[in-house]
Order: sequence, then C-alpha cells, then structure tokens
Amino acid sequence: MSNSHSDALVFFGATGDLAYKKIFPALQAMIKRGTLNVPVIGVAKAGWNLDQLIARAKDSLEQHGGLDAAAWGKLRPLLGYVDGDYADPATFVAVRKALGNAERPAHYLAIPPMLFEEVVEQLVKSGSAKGARIIVEKPFGHDLASAQELNRILLSAFPESSIFRIDHYLAKGPVHNMVSFRFSNAILEPIWNRNYIESIQITMAEDFGIQGRGSFYDQTGTIRDVIQNHIFQVLCNLAMEPPARNDSESMRDEKVKVLKAIPPIDPKDLVRGQFRGYLEEKGVAANSKMETFAALRLEVKSWRWDGVPFYIRSGKTMPVTCTEVIARFRKPPTTNITEPGTPQNYMRFRISPEMTVAMAVSVTSQSETDKRGEVELVASRHPRPGEMEAYERVLCDAMAGDATLFARQDYVEEAWRIVDPVLKADTPVYPYDIHTWGPKEVEGKVVPPGGWDRPSDEEAEDFRVIKDPA
Ligand code: BG6
Repeated sequence: MSNSHSDALVFFGATGDLAYKKIFPALQAMIKRGTLNVPVIGVAKAGWNLDQLIARAKDSLEQHGGLDAAAWGKLRPLLGYVDGDYADPATFVAVRKALGNAERPAHYLAIPPMLFEEVVEQLVKSGSAKGARIIVEKPFGHDLASAQELNRILLSAFPESSIFRIDHYLAKGPVHNMVSFRFSNAILEPIWNRNYIESIQITMAEDFGIQGRGSFYDQTGTIRDVIQNHIFQVLCNLAMEPPARNDSESMRDEKVKVLKAIPPIDPKDLVRGQFRGYLEEKGVAANSKMETFAALRLEVKSWRWDGVPFYIRSGKTMPVTCTEVIARFRKPPTTNITEPGTPQNYMRFRISPEMTVAMAVSVTSQSETDKRGEVELVASRHPRPGEMEAYERVLCDAMAGDATLFARQDYVEEAWRIVDPVLKADTPVYPYDIHTWGPKEVEGKVVPPGGWDRPSDEEAEDFRVIKDPA
C-alpha cells in the first residue's frame, strides 16, 4: 500500500440500497483481487448494530454475485459500524474513534446530496476530514446552481484532488475502450472528424421501467439521471482530442474542452416522452410532467466537429436494453460504378450488454453482382467472469488516489450548463407505449440523417458478419 493509499474506508448510507446492490459486492471483489485490507466502517441511522450490518453484507453478497467463503472470511473482520444521526456530532465522534490510527480515510457519501453539507461539516468538526478523501455519488446537484453549491460545500473542506465524484459509466470497460480504440488504431484518426463523419448518435435504452424508484425518478427524469452524466461521458470519449499525457488531469482537461465547445441545448432540439403507466407508479405525482424518455440534438463547435450533429436518445421501457453509438460516415460519391442508395459506412460501438466494435462496409451482393449490400465487420465479446465491475474499479481507484475516472468540478458544471436551459424550458412531454422507441413526435423533430439506429438484442459472436447482403 503506497503512502497515498487510503488507510480506511467509511461509507455513509451503509444500510441503503446502493450498499446492498453494489458496494458490498465491490468490497468482496476487492478482497479477492487483493486491493482491500483496511478497515471498512459503515455508517447509517437505522438503529442497527454491527451484527446486523454483517448479516446485511452477507445477504447482499449472496443475492448479488455470490458469497466467496474465503473472501468473506477476510472481509468480515474488517467491517465496523457506527449508528447515528448525521446531525448529531456524537455520530462523528464515534466515526473518528472507529477510525483508530487511520490518518488517510476515504469517506464515501452514498447518501442523498441534501445531506452532504451536514456530513461534510461534521467530518471537519470531528477531525475526520484531515488527510481524507471524499467520494460522492450522483446525482451531483439537480441543476447548475445546485451543483455549484455542492462544489462549494465540498471544496470548503477538501481540495479538488481529494474529491472523487462517481459516474460509474466511466468505469465500464467498454466506455474506456472507446478512448483506447480511438487512440491506438492509426486508421481511424484521419477520418474521425467533420470531413468524413456525417452524424453521431448515442442510444441508451432500457427495457425496464423505474423499478420502484418513483420518488427519486420523479425528481430527476432522464436528462438528469443519465444524459447529463453517463451519456455525456460517452460523448466526450468519442469527441475528445488525444490527451498530451497519460495522467488524470490531461485526460480530464480534454473532456472538459469537449463540453466547453457545446452550446446549451435549444428546446426545439429536444423531445421528451413519458411511458404510459408512469403516473400510476408509487412515488410519482399524479400530474407529473417528468420525462422517462428524451431525444435531443446538440453540436460540438470545435475544429474537429463543427457541423456534425450529435443525437442522443435514452429512455425507460424501450424494446431492448442496450447502449450503443453509431458514427455514420458521409455518402460515397455517385459515379458510373456506384448507384445512388449505396449504403453509407458507419462505425458502431456497443457499450452494453456486450462490448462491440463494428464497421459497416458496402460489398457486392453474391447474387446480383451489380448490387451493393451492407455487411458489418464485428468484434464483440461479453463480460467474462472475474472482470472488474464498475463499482469495484471506482472504489479501488478512489482509495488509490487515481482521479482519472471521476468527474472534475469544471466538468460537472459545464455539463449542467449545457442542459440547464432545457430543464427550465417546460417543454411538452408526450406519452409513449411501453416497449416502443418513444413518442411518435420524435420522428418529425429529432432524427439523425439516415434515421435512428434500431439496436437489437440479437447475440453477436466474435468476428461474425451479422448483416449479409442477400
Ligand atoms: C443509473 C441510473 O445511474 O444508471 C439508472 O440512475 C440507470 O436509472 C443506470 O438504469 C444504468 O446503469 P447500468 O450500469 O445498470 O447500465
């Protein structure tokens, strides 16, 4: 363990849903990989004791990925628990006591942002903030002003280099792969710009609804829940310039530059939708105008991308669950040997459920030699057992002090700047049927040249041609 490695992990919200579904499994995975051997102290206000927390952790592992007896044998003795109100200084005196000799703890706030200020203040007062890192979960604010306020609170107690704002999408292997794919394949760079690319579209579709998260979702909606954060991260990886160095700040500088080049979204370039049945969900206001679907168009006004429209579409209760990018190249010229209508080339990056990099090219059809058809050259693979999951990666990196996969203050504020005006614009919300691609109003209004991709959940094998011209 290096000198800069955190020597304890405190996680607030230990009895909550995120801890149950993601944090305990990530801790067990870290033990298995040998990256965790420091005390882990859960904090919550639940009236629990340590035995109850241990039982909850065990149950979480059994339900989410499976309990590994050897790893559990090592994790269990590391666990500690402090029960108490976040407004009560005694809770934080107990946290400091539980930290023992630890001098560089990492405090993970897996709690609603409205509690941040209180917790940060109490961490400072109890002496627990000294030498510490702070890890925070999204949503990071609900608009530009609230994000700035959260940043002010965090920066009053911690330097930016000790603040780790989680966007778990960044820690997904395929999202990261987009950067390495772009900057390690020389064939791509000369064509990856406005001269060759006609449009880029990003779809993040989920075939399920809001899964009992009505009260959260009804305050949030699709733009705040996934577009302003997860999808913008994907967009930055697609659009950024190669960083000058391989350190976290050089990488994050390039992403911020992409966001700075994006003007605020114009309300006329947005269609919002709400699935039929949303209003009957528990926790949702009877007359809610919150969107569960959004399709929008934006521009990146940079030297590389000016004039190339970027389209983003995301929604709940779509026909499939899949996150996919299509970069469509300009049409080939019409000559004596290419007929009009020859398919356009495109690159396809699939981020989930499996990782795919595909390129569509035009070939002569086997049956009719004068006809062109489209084939996809596909490299695809599913996550393998033992691969690092996003939450394991973010916790591991934050404790090691590597900020590359975390959103920096300027990034978060730029991202809010882009969506802030449409969030306040009170645009209409159109109903759509579940398991469709959103409201019909999208068709007349926000459609990429050549149309929206219709991602399928058809299984792709390694290096298989999936569309063969007949
Ligand atoms: C979360 C959103 O941040 O990301 C959810 O709150 C969404 O609404 C989820 O379903 C998607 O992440 P993943 O890793 O499950 O694809």
